[in-house]
Amino acid sequence: MNILLLGSGGREHALAWKIAQSKKVDTLFIAPGNAGTANVGKNVNIKADDFEAIGKFAIENNVKMVVVGPEDPLVKGIYDYFKDNKELCDITVIGPSKFGAQMEGSKDFAKQFMMRHNIPTAKYLSVNSSNLEEGKAFLKSMKAPYVLKADGLAAGKGVLIIDNLDEALKELDEMLGGKFGASSATVVLEEFLSGIECSVFVLTDGKDYAILPEAKDYKRIGEGDKGLNTGGMGSVSPVSFVTKEFMEKIENRIIKPTIDGLYTENIVYKGFVFFGLINVDGDPYVIEYNARMGDPETESVMLRLKNDIVELFEATANSTLKNCKIEKDPRYAVTVMLVSGGYPEAYQKGKVISGTDKVTESVVFHAGTALKDGQTVTSGGRVIAVSSYGENKESALKKSFEAAKLIDFEGKYFRRDIGFDLN
Ligand code: AMP
Ligand code: GLY
Repeated sequence: MNILLLGSGGREHALAWKIAQSKKVDTLFIAPGNAGTANVGKNVNIKADDFEAIGKFAIENNVKMVVVGPEDPLVKGIYDYFKDNKELCDITVIGPSKFGAQMEGSKDFAKQFMMRHNIPTAKYLSVNSSNLEEGKAFLKSMKAPYVLKADGLAAGKGVLIIDNLDEALKELDEMLGGKFGASSATVVLEEFLSGIECSVFVLTDGKDYAILPEAKDYKRIGEGDKGLNTGGMGSVSPVSFVTKEFMEKIENRIIKPTIDGLYTENIVYKGFVFFGLINVDGDPYVIEYNARMGDPETESVMLRLKNDIVELFEATANSTLKNCKIEKDPRYAVTVMLVSGGYPEAYQKGKVISGTDKVTESVVFHAGTALKDGQTVTSGGRVIAVSSYGENKESALKKSFEAAKLIDFEGKYFRRDIGFDLN
């Protein structure tokens, strides 16, 4: 079968690497891909949200399955675009419907869903121009720090955590006034939850689900998890505090009610659900849902997933996931992200990347890279993800840090403390 994967980051290189290992694939296309995905499939110069061009390409190239990496095409409705088109409706799309993608695309939608299904999450109030006074009263009734979230997608920048009440009130005004465009026309105010976070992933066919290996990501730019938020600087899997007992709580209180909720509400959803969770004194709470895999969690999770992923995708499409058993590599997998100097603020692009060919003990996934005049150059803030196996977390990390030294580009930076907070 021919498969088309949409996206261009480290997550997509890791998915492409895994899909390419399936015995079910004839040709794997990646649109638009990066310099790394070109080594495991064929890059296609089409943007991941250009539905018309994607549909046309799929027909012309006998594509039978489209796997959607990032959230944007999902929230814009790529699933429905295929299902509503006579020529495309038989092509499998791995991802939720536009309605289902609101689990990520609207924090207010996700919160209301969690309330309806009794899923543990922070107390909240959704505010828009019609209930601003109520919003201000809610903030005043809460203890610091104050959590303000733009309802819609904001490229990972829409969540503000503020210590000072006056500043929080001012931010609320600014967000409703268009700080994040239409995305913050509604703002979700939340109670601050204190604990350690982890990412849990499932594939669902809309009724049943299969739980993939969990991971933890490291979001801040600086060591000790300090400084500005990034897309993610590294990840580890498994996560030591996600014990069998804690996972049972996650499954019974969060995963099962979520999937049952989707099913009973007739929400069409055949794809990944990413549960962003926080452990508050031994109890899991949902911080957010995403309608896709995480990055850089995917790079570690794909290393540990032993199943043929295309078989899992087929079961997702055919509603037979309940027959699938997830097989996990018992080893640790870790990922260290090499980023451009200056990221997540302004950084330069076009720097030549060298040394990836010297890495033998790790898997090198490309993120923000491009091919230019026969050379691989940087083209984004997060440039290369170095993923490694180990019998324990330390030995896996040692390999990734060694490889991180072998790879070079001007301004290269990486955190040397990934996994520091786990046993
Ligand atoms: P989100 O985009 O909703 O995942 O939020 C981004 C980050 O903000 C999360 O990964 C958490 O670290 C933090 N965060 C979001 N909501 C809360 C909350 N209610 N309490 C504490 N931290 C939060
Ligand atoms: N690593 C978090 C995310 O992909 O949203």
